[in-house]
Amino acid sequence: MKVRRAAELCSLIIENVKKIYVGEEVTLKKILACALANGHILFEDYPGLGKTLLVKTFSKLIGCKFRRIQFTPDLLPADIIGTKVWKYRTGEFVLMKGPIFTNILLADEINRAPPKTQSALLEAMEERQVSIEGETYRLEAPFIVLATQNPIELEGTYPLPEAQMDRFMMRLSIGYVKRFEDESEILKRRIKWKKDDPTIDLKPIIDNRTFVKLQRVVEEDVYIDDSIIDYISQIVWKTREHPKVEVGSSPRGGLALLKLSRAMALIEGRDFVVPDDVKAFAREALSHRIILKMEFVLEGETQEGVIDEILRNVKPPIEVG
Ligand SMILES: Nc1ncnc2c1ncn2[C@@H]1O[C@H](COP(=O)(O)OP(=O)(O)OP(=O)(O)O)[C@@H](O)[C@H]1O
Ligand SMILES: [Mg+2]
Repeated sequence: MKVRRAAELCSLIIENVKKIYVGEEVTLKKILACALANGHILFEDYPGLGKTLLVKTFSKLIGCKFRRIQFTPDLLPADIIGTKVWKYRTGEFVLMKGPIFTNILLADEINRAPPKTQSALLEAMEERQVSIEGETYRLEAPFIVLATQNPIELEGTYPLPEAQMDRFMMRLSIGYVKRFEDESEILKRRIKWKKDDPTIDLKPIIDNRTFVKLQRVVEEDVYIDDSIIDYISQIVWKTREHPKVEVGSSPRGGLALLKLSRAMALIEGRDFVVPDDVKAFAREALSHRIILKMEFVLEGETQEGVIDEILRNVKPPIEVG
């Protein structure tokens, strides 16, 4: 597939998501970019902001299988991954695949399950395979996890440790709609649909194999100049030198920024990355990977604030052409 055709399909996907979900186009592009970069997303948002609707809409439009898991304190690793069950009739073990065997997995409120269960998910996310009773099963491509975490610190939750946050390519808050008209628009659409779940009637634009091809276009046909690679490296490097930072970004942060900016270039219809593609993702790709010094947290400094400051202080390369 050529870049031009791939970019057209991306626009078509975004346009059709917008018919269902009321929200900022840039947020939708970021989610699509992360999926194209084969990355997992952590949503940190309040309930009822339309995350389920958004993820279901995307899945349907890109022809992907969709599953949802509600994380609870009693959820076990086997509830996610699956298990082998003894069948008396045939006298053998039969594999019962868990909900992880899908293309798009919405993992709701992951911080409500104990660490052992969280790890099972995070391991599968990283390795794109699972082992059940000693046997390994590859997960079908694409495999993308969108996990949600409630930002309100609730009692009896297990916030993800930093090391596990690193497994998410980006952390995103979609937030409330930005304009008052959009609040009404959500209600008007509900009247028009005459049902709560409008995704039932949605027709896919592409199938999941074509989506994998789009991922390949990002990997093979989007050029990134050395000057932009240096720009990314400098931003990541600076997170480790910043006086307010206790632990800076891992190299994975730089890789995330690299992959996301290439995917964004494609969505914007280009076969080369510009500094703005990198800037667009610095917050989402890096802020969850840094730990601030406690004294600055108490003063009200945020991870996003530090990333913004770094962006202001690193000079982007001059664009040619
Ligand atoms: N931005 C939006 N555009 C269109 N519909 C929306 C939007 N936000 C919320 N809704 C509507 O609000 C309802 C709740 O949305 P949804 O269930 O997707 O939220 P959620 O973020 O998944 O909530 P929870 O965190 O409780 O799972 C749905 O009926 C959805 O159609
Ligand atoms: Mg939901």
